[in-house]
Amino acid sequence: MNKPTFNTTRLRAAALALTLSMGLAQTFLAPAAAVAVTEAPVKLQSLRGAEIDASDPEGDGTRYGRDQAPLPRDFVQQPPLIPHTIKGYTVTKNFNKCLDCHAWARAKESGATKISVTHFKTREGEELSSVSPRRYFCNQCHVPQSDAKPLVGNTFKPGTGMR
Ligand code: HEC
Ligand code: HEC
Repeated sequence: MNKPTFNTTRLRAAALALTLSMGLAQTFLAPAAAVAVTEAPVKLQSLRGAEIDASDPEGDGTRYGRDQAPLPRDFVQQPPLIPHTIKGYTVTKNFNKCLDCHAWARAKESGATKISVTHFKTREGEELSSVSPRRYFCNQCHVPQSDAKPLVGNTFKPGTGMR
C-alpha cells in the first residue's frame, strides 16, 4: 500500500502551533466560549459504528478488483477512478511509481493515459514542466476499485452532462 512518509517532527510542530493559537483564541474569546458550553454536547459516531476514539477493527486487507478498461466518470470534475490494481505502487517523497507509466514521457510505451495538463499547474497558477507538488500524491484523489460494502447508503446520480 502507498503510505506516504510524513515528517512527524514537522507535523508535531504544526500541531503545537495550532494548539498555541487555539489557546490564544480561547483567551480572547472567553465570553463567547462560556455561552457555547450550555449547548448539548454533539454526539459523534464513526461510520463503522465504533466509538469515535476507538481504533478501527483490523481489516483483512484490500482486495483490488481486476484490471479493467477506464471507468465512466460521474461528474465533470471527477478524478478518474483507477481501473487497475495499485498493489506495490509506492508513492513517496522521492519516488512515484504512478509516474513510471502516467508521465508524459512514459505514456506512449506504457499505454497509460497521460496525466492531464491541470497536473502541471501550481496553486499560484504557475505552469511547471513536471508534475506540480499539489498533484504529486496521486492517491489523494484517484482511488482504486475494490468490491467493498458501502459504509452508508447513497442516492447520488451522475451529473446531467455525463448521462
Ligand atoms: C505499469 C503501468 C502503470 C502504473 C505503474 C500505473 N498505471 Fe494507471 N493506468 C495504466 C494503464 C495502461 C491505464 C489505462 C488502461 C486502459 O486504457 O485500458 C491506466 C489507467 C489509469 C487511470 C484511469 C484514467 C482514465 O482516463 O480513466 C487512472 C486514474 C490511473 N491509471 C491512475 C494511476 C495511479 C494513481 C497510479 C499509481 C498509484 C497508477 N495509475 C499506476 C498503467 C499504469
Ligand atoms: C488534487 C487531486 C489530484 C491529484 C493529487 C492527482 N490528480 Fe489526476 N486528476 C484529478 C482530476 C480532478 C482529474 C480530471 C480533471 C483533470 O483532468 O484535471 C484528473 C485526471 C487524471 C488523469 C486523466 C487525464 C485525462 O486526460 O483524462 C490521469 C491519468 C491522472 N489524473 C493521473 C494522475 C496521477 C498519475 C497522479 C499523481 C502523479 C494524479 N493524477 C494526481 C485530480 C488529481
